[in-house]
Amino acid sequence: MCGIVGYVGPDAKSRTLEVIMEGLARLEYRGYDSAGVALVVTDGIASAKKAGKLANLRAEIEAHPLPGSTTGIGHTRWATHGGPTDDNAHPHLGGDDDRLALIHNGIIENFHVLRTELLDQGVVFRSETDTEVAAQLLARAYADTNDLTSAMQQVVNRLEGAFTLLAIHADTPGQVVAARRNSPLVIGLGDGENFLGSDVAAFIGHTKSAMEVDQDQIVTITKDTVSVIGFDGSPAEGKRFEVTWDAAQAEKGGHSSFMAKEILEQPHAIADTLLGRTDEAGRLVLDEMRIDPVRLAEVNKIIIIACGTAFYSGLTAKYAIEHWTRIPCAVELAHEFRYCDPVIDAQTLVVSISQSGETMDTLMAVKHARALGALTLSICNTHGATIPRESDAALYTHAGPEIAVASTKAFTAQIAACYLLGLYLAQLRGEDSTVRTVMQELAQIPGKVEHLLGRMDRVREIAHFMADTRSVLFLGRHVGYPIALEGALKLKEIAYIHAEGFAAGELKHGPIALIEPGQPVFIVVPSPHTPYHLHDKVVSNIQEIRARGARTLVIAEEGDETVVPFADEVIRVPQSSPLLAPLLTIIPLQVFACQLATAKGLDVDQPRNLAKSVTVE
Ligand code: M6R
Repeated sequence: MCGIVGYVGPDAKSRTLEVIMEGLARLEYRGYDSAGVALVVTDGIASAKKAGKLANLRAEIEAHPLPGSTTGIGHTRWATHGGPTDDNAHPHLGGDDDRLALIHNGIIENFHVLRTELLDQGVVFRSETDTEVAAQLLARAYADTNDLTSAMQQVVNRLEGAFTLLAIHADTPGQVVAARRNSPLVIGLGDGENFLGSDVAAFIGHTKSAMEVDQDQIVTITKDTVSVIGFDGSPAEGKRFEVTWDAAQAEKGGHSSFMAKEILEQPHAIADTLLGRTDEAGRLVLDEMRIDPVRLAEVNKIIIIACGTAFYSGLTAKYAIEHWTRIPCAVELAHEFRYCDPVIDAQTLVVSISQSGETMDTLMAVKHARALGALTLSICNTHGATIPRESDAALYTHAGPEIAVASTKAFTAQIAACYLLGLYLAQLRGEDSTVRTVMQELAQIPGKVEHLLGRMDRVREIAHFMADTRSVLFLGRHVGYPIALEGALKLKEIAYIHAEGFAAGELKHGPIALIEPGQPVFIVVPSPHTPYHLHDKVVSNIQEIRARGARTLVIAEEGDETVVPFADEVIRVPQSSPLLAPLLTIIPLQVFACQLATAKGLDVDQPRNLAKSVTVE
């Protein structure tokens, strides 16, 4: 939520504004309610900000060009305090003479008290934001200290909540000072130039050399130096890392949307997540997790915590993890977990799943679990993100950058990573043959996804014809149930259509009343090899809703002819063992949502009211 960029370059003719605007374009997925920039220029601060997407800011700057500068900051906003207006857009200026500019990602929880204090001192506010309070406090602290880093140190110690702050001052050209608590910040290390960003996408076009910033740290960059201190002033050091993907991977590359591109990238996302995980004897090796196998072998309960799509990947994985390990596995929404007084001890493994690694609800749940003594493992797609760093161990998905707000390739990569974890736990319990068999089946999944993606024309046609549909239902059972939930979420978030997913067995307990003639219903049919006759039970469900007029869109395995008489459309997926089927059955639902939103003329990558990375509670 909110993208922030900071830059210090070699000279005033340098491409400061260009670098910042390019960074904002790459971070726009984090929030697109408004955008703004501020530069240190000869006679003070020059700034521009505009409500709406980055294009509005670009037009504003074209109409009113900004002077050259070595030093600047930029922001793309997801509104929290105050609506998406020009005035509420960041940067916010501070001081009587507006010689300081500040941007912010997060929420300052005690802003009301601080604002009242400043109002009493005669400060006139120009926005409704919590951020302007920080700008005014910082300007006052600077007036006392004449040092932007010390001033930042004073201010952060007065703030409560979550924040990444970036500030520049007209008296200190060539310097950007940043601070972070519970919000993301990374440093980009250039040659004669340095960068700050919410994530590495901000500077990936310029350097792959990066540095992590820990919680409660203040960073000061100049063009040649980077210094880090704690909020208490103690010296600190950032941890360097190399970014493993390049700028081209964060481009659309000729696709109509990032979402369309990312759906097609799933064979690679899954294959890369599975890559190099076994030794020559076929045994799983998850050294990357840096977790003590003895402690892991003692685990007697697993709790998966996540939000949104990541939550559904956890729900999907639960079936396999319990089946392979016989360890009870609960899946909780991260924002509920903290408040349900969870029963946890040192033998509980709490697995968080997060694409961004920055979701505040998930981060807080991880901290809570750790405080209660659990072993915490983060499944994450973003190197250097806060959640893996706040966890005892990390297992990375290798899906590459996911830019579209709607998560697709991260979802299937998360399931693959959860399966690796489940199999590893099974291996620790001596289930070597299960591990070998499933790993062989998993290795075939990327090829099957590729094959399936090549046969999505009919799904696209159906989506196109259904552009005016007002409601779609999704049914699934067993591992198909979370897939139904995820299919519905995709449609809600990008096509703004009322969509609901149900467990097929629940139908007769209420939801069947929703069925009326013409109601489209997707049904994720379990593989005929699923135990307990679940396949036949779902086929009966299809008949029940068809009898009441539903239009049945049936996702079924190749060769499963039993569904044909009751299906208005049959969408075929390759055969697989039942527990691996979700990696295939979700594909048509992703394509359907993407195509339907495109047919409605919507912005598929940046749906209304949403942001990619939800860094506020
Ligand atoms: O970065 P995370 O995986 O922690 O994000 C969690 C959810 O906010 C995210 O999956 C969200 O539901 C997606 N927009 C769904 O497509």
